[in-house]
Amino acid sequence: MSQLDQVLAKIDSDLDASLARLFEWLRIPSISTDPAYKADCRRAGEWLVADLKGLGVDASLRETQGHPVVVGHAKGAAAPHVLFYGHYDVQPVDPLELWDTPPFEPKIATLADGRKVVSARGSSDDKGQVLTFVEACRAWKAVTGSLPINVTFLVEGAEEDGSKFLPEFIEANKDELKADVALVCDTGMWDRDTPAVTSSLRGMVYEEVKVRCADRDLHSGTFGGAAQNPIHVLSKIIAAIHDENGRITIPGFYDGVPETPTQMLEQWRGLNLTEEEFLGQVGLKHSAGEKGRMLIEQIQSRPTCDVNGIIGGYTGEGTKTVIASEASCKVSFRLVGDQDPAKIAESFQAFVRERIPADCSVEFIHHKGSRALSLPHDFSALTVAKGALHDEWKKEPIVIGMGGSIPVGGDFKRTLGLDTLFVGFGLDDDRIHSPNEKYDLQSFHKGTRSWARILAALAQK
Ligand code: BES
Ligand code: MN
Ligand code: MN
Repeated sequence: MSQLDQVLAKIDSDLDASLARLFEWLRIPSISTDPAYKADCRRAGEWLVADLKGLGVDASLRETQGHPVVVGHAKGAAAPHVLFYGHYDVQPVDPLELWDTPPFEPKIATLADGRKVVSARGSSDDKGQVLTFVEACRAWKAVTGSLPINVTFLVEGAEEDGSKFLPEFIEANKDELKADVALVCDTGMWDRDTPAVTSSLRGMVYEEVKVRCADRDLHSGTFGGAAQNPIHVLSKIIAAIHDENGRITIPGFYDGVPETPTQMLEQWRGLNLTEEEFLGQVGLKHSAGEKGRMLIEQIQSRPTCDVNGIIGGYTGEGTKTVIASEASCKVSFRLVGDQDPAKIAESFQAFVRERIPADCSVEFIHHKGSRALSLPHDFSALTVAKGALHDEWKKEPIVIGMGGSIPVGGDFKRTLGLDTLFVGFGLDDDRIHSPNEKYDLQSFHKGTRSWARILAALAQK
């Protein structure tokens, strides 16, 4: 048996123990955006430090201005050095009543089609994915006494909060984080049986908008007809963001957006992803996106704007005739190409200000944005990974963009000079950020096996 075959066999025989470790980690509610879970975030970081130490990694918890970062170093048998990145924080769980089982009590569930899944917040995004890599390392270590290549681990606790303090941490620890290539396990597969390597991710701008009108809530009979209603003001502004073709009307918004090369469009057409198929899984049929763009463009290579939340007025049981004094919303933009997050945040704020009527005022909460990211076409680690993924899944991997954002990707390039290999095993029906998040057992098991193979392939390069 080759070393790799022994490692793969070890992964198979250890699957239950690997899952038990994942369950322990999933039980820690590391919600990074909610200050109430600050101590739990630290505990989730500490859990990983202890786990990595258990497999001989020199790991420690390192402070930032926000949640701590897990950093670990392990020497390998061969020269290449990879920087592995993932995140231990998770999204909030609300609405809690929509979960079939409590979000931080992981369970193995069987879906209607017979698939076995791990159900818990963070199972797919990103603890389950991080552990596919860690478990692959553990198997290598158990079988051969060391990892096949040098690995630095960098697992943060604030990705879901925009990785606010990570860029400065990377800058301050540049030398320690030096490597030849970065690996990230926080993306998805093409479908359940087809692995994917992600070649681009969208960037992000996130703004909160609060409109204030009267200095108190008003009786809508006494004042209705005369007083400004902040909910109306805000709704009109939101409605003005898109035109009838689904294009964004903010001046300068499309600066730096490249047209997708025709060759790429051809390739995407060949993938035959229909609106019915993609939207069918979430109870929709018709794309509401930009007109004249095929679905893959809409979700990968075009910039977008979505209102992620809206707050205002009376929302309790029954009726209450009131004109609220304020209304607010949370808005995010997905960016592509060379779109500049700072410029877009600025023109969005100007766009809103221009539409605020007399007697009303507006305030913004600005969140740190990130640029879109795309990988060079001749990226050698990508070719290596494709080969290893093919060996595991017996299917040609697809190289494709993902619509989501991983803010730190750009910093690996800018600060460390590294290109990043994004390989992940999430599925579109994992319900990440939603109630009943799950990770397929197949993703966890074959994902771990895939990393074992990728490490071996990188060692031989
Ligand atoms: N893992 C996701 C990003 C992702 C999702 C990649 C789907 C590929 C497919 C990541 O954890 C995430 O949710 N990022 C946030 C970033 C934001 C909070 C700054 C996102 O994309 O909304
Ligand atoms: Mn993630
Ligand atoms: Mn996420």
